[in-house]
Amino acid sequence: MKLGVVILAAGQGTRMKSNLPKVLHPLADRPLLAHVIATARRLGALRIAVVYGHGGEQVPDTISDADLVWVEQAEQLGTGHAVEQALPAMAGMDRVLVLYGDVPLTSMTTLAALIRAVDDTALALLTVTLTDPAGYGRIVRDGQGRVQRIVEQKDATDQELVIDEINTGILVAERPRLETWLDRLDNDNAQGEFYLTDIVAMAVAEGVEVNSTRPADRHEVMGVNDRLQLAELERHYQRAQADRLMRQGVTLRDPARFDLRGSLSVGDDVEIDINVLIEGEVSLGDRVRIGANTVIRNSHISDGVVILENCVIEDASIGEESRIGPFSRIRPETKLAAQVHVGNFVEIKKSSVARGSKINHLSYVGDTSVGKSVNIGAGTITCNYDGANKYRTVIGDGAFIGSDTQLVAPVEVGAGATIGAGSTITRDAPADALTLSRVKQTSHQGWKRPVKQSKPKD
Ligand code: UD1
Ligand code: CA
Repeated sequence: MKLGVVILAAGQGTRMKSNLPKVLHPLADRPLLAHVIATARRLGALRIAVVYGHGGEQVPDTISDADLVWVEQAEQLGTGHAVEQALPAMAGMDRVLVLYGDVPLTSMTTLAALIRAVDDTALALLTVTLTDPAGYGRIVRDGQGRVQRIVEQKDATDQELVIDEINTGILVAERPRLETWLDRLDNDNAQGEFYLTDIVAMAVAEGVEVNSTRPADRHEVMGVNDRLQLAELERHYQRAQADRLMRQGVTLRDPARFDLRGSLSVGDDVEIDINVLIEGEVSLGDRVRIGANTVIRNSHISDGVVILENCVIEDASIGEESRIGPFSRIRPETKLAAQVHVGNFVEIKKSSVARGSKINHLSYVGDTSVGKSVNIGAGTITCNYDGANKYRTVIGDGAFIGSDTQLVAPVEVGAGATIGAGSTITRDAPADALTLSRVKQTSHQGWKRPVKQSKPKD
């Protein structure tokens, strides 16, 4: 069975009140349309055509997957017209599934069941019952419960308006039959549009039994028309991800205050406190603990790592049993080995820190290679930038950097070296020696503090 998918995405999305085409608005950091395309791929679609229009080339320019067929529908003449534009791209397919660029959360299971529902017929619809069906097309059935046709809200009689089973718009049809039906559509209706829904009555007239299936959850068929609906679907999506992680054995202190925008792989007994945001590709080893208000982006966190509150970690890898935070910022291209301690108000960028080293307070370490068991005192700064170029700092194993030291790169501190507090190090510091650069301390006996002068009265 060769499956083709047509995704309708030409609508304007006026209620978003946005310059960005609706289908490009992000859900969990990916455009709505990208979610739909991903679902089509997972279903094994051999061809995916996207009908676009509003927003012009912005949509194809943003979604750059090379194998998609982009079909421009310059004028939005209706859903039937839209699908028809995509039919040439469906040549050779056995079945065509119609999806919508603004309905991002339809599940694989729901769609697989819908596709199976055409095994012994030529058309199947995904329908749902709503307590408030206003605005949707209604599913009209006969006395035996067989689907007869779909009537749009604007064309419906008072009796039809009472029907609470609605058309989600998602359907599967045998491609050759679909072609003949779409060919015969007209726009003789309340909206003057070519309705895709009219193919249902055509099929029935030809003696085709129209099957229907239902989604497991109503969010699966919810479209995004405004930012409120976008937020509702985002929350639903986040909650579903949180539930999945908890089933995998992750403790989430509050699943409502956890966000994953990307993919997360986890080991055993991971614990995540509130307001944690995970972005991109992140992996967490066994027993990792993440404190409240932490953001982790595209990073690998090894077994036993503890990240305390309020950290931001990006494009980094953290070795086993390291301890980060609170208030640490680990920037891209940072590699921390095992048992490294990074404390509050420490920023590390494009640096490697070997096993057991500590940078516990108020420091900036950039473009640096830090050896094993190094102790970097409070307020140490690597001066890696001269205003034009970046330079590296190398700190050997076992070195001790006194507090408030500036290491003016390029510079090397030898293994076992000690740097006296308050030093500005501009030349290499030899191994196993004390190096310091400090103005001699002086004291002035009998010196008097200035006193405040009383203002002359006028
Ligand atoms: C459509 C269905 C209705 C169903 C509802 C579910 C028809 C005639 N009606 O109504 O039965 O209950 O969806 O939401 O199909 N689009 C295009 N090109 C067009 C027209 C639409 O790409 O020419 C796209 C839109 O971007 C949108 C989708 O198709 O994503 C649905 O179009 P819309 O006009 O919103 O249809 P509804 O009136 O909501
Ligand atoms: Ca709609």
